[in-house]
Amino acid sequence: MKADIYYFTGTGNSLAVAKDIAKEVDGELISIPYVIGKDTIKTSAKVIIIIFPVYYWGVPLIIERFIKKIENLNNKNIYAIATHGGGPGVVINIFEKMIEGCSGKLAAGFTVNMPGNYVVRYGAFSEEKQKELFEKWGDKVKVIAEYIKDNKRGKKENSNMIVNLLISNLIHNYSVKHMSKVEKNFWVDEKCNKCGICKRICPVSNIDLNSGNPVWNSKCEQCFACLQWCPQEAIQYGKKTPMHKRYHHPNVDISDILNQAKK
Ligand SMILES: Cc1cc2nc3c(=O)[nH]c(=O)nc-3n(C[C@H](O)[C@H](O)[C@H](O)COP(=O)(O)O)c2cc1C
Ligand code: SF4
Ligand code: SF4
Repeated sequence: MKADIYYFTGTGNSLAVAKDIAKEVDGELISIPYVIGKDTIKTSAKVIIIIFPVYYWGVPLIIERFIKKIENLNNKNIYAIATHGGGPGVVINIFEKMIEGCSGKLAAGFTVNMPGNYVVRYGAFSEEKQKELFEKWGDKVKVIAEYIKDNKRGKKENSNMIVNLLISNLIHNYSVKHMSKVEKNFWVDEKCNKCGICKRICPVSNIDLNSGNPVWNSKCEQCFACLQWCPQEAIQYGKKTPMHKRYHHPNVDISDILNQAKK
């Protein structure tokens, strides 16, 4: 079985999961921001594994665009793995509907609890908490990989609560609608040394440099890669991020994230 393993990540959790899956399943790792520029995404692989973070109880916008570009979704075995910071809501249900909207069928969908990276609200989780989550993933990766290798179908890791379904859809739709508008909250402090990494790292090419300083161009999709990976920790968002410790997955480094965004 040869699989295509597509990933999108802001702080490395989803890439770390993708790398671990690739060690267990015979497959090729492919960056979604890299292929998204094509008119259509062609693949001869029968098995497609799509790995992404949960944003506002839902699916990142780039994933929605990506799915619409894959050719012949109807004859693929599609698996989803969504990484989250403790509240996945009904992300697999939402993702499944998107796949069905493109004439595909989701074989199975899994959620993986990783350290949260919503830096607007909180800083990096403690080392102990991170270790605990990584250890749990170490057990779960084998289970998911076996499931995929056996070509099994049917498992959908959704929350059962109807209220969760309602709230998550409402909040997700509201957040998506306002996503690009809230980017006016970005600012840069005096630590910026004009290295330009933020421009290169943005997966949707939303950052330009003006006399070396970053400017955001109204199409932010809120991955926070620019803020989390700025080597000087000079990028801020709103009032609280100066107090929040930055987070990246320990098995992913800045070159991985720069490669993800390379066009
Ligand atoms: C804009 C944004 C929204 C998020 N919303 C949720 C959420 O609704 N539920 C949740 O559990 N985690 C949420 N998170 C946390 C991420 O889903 C989680 O940390 C994920 O593993 C990050 O993956 P990455 O490192 O591959 O970017 C959010 C993070 C961001 C940046
Ligand atoms: S990555 Fe940070 S230090 Fe480099 S240009 Fe951007 S804001 Fe400035
Ligand atoms: S501007 Fe920053 S937060 Fe927005 S999409 Fe680009 S890297 Fe992500």
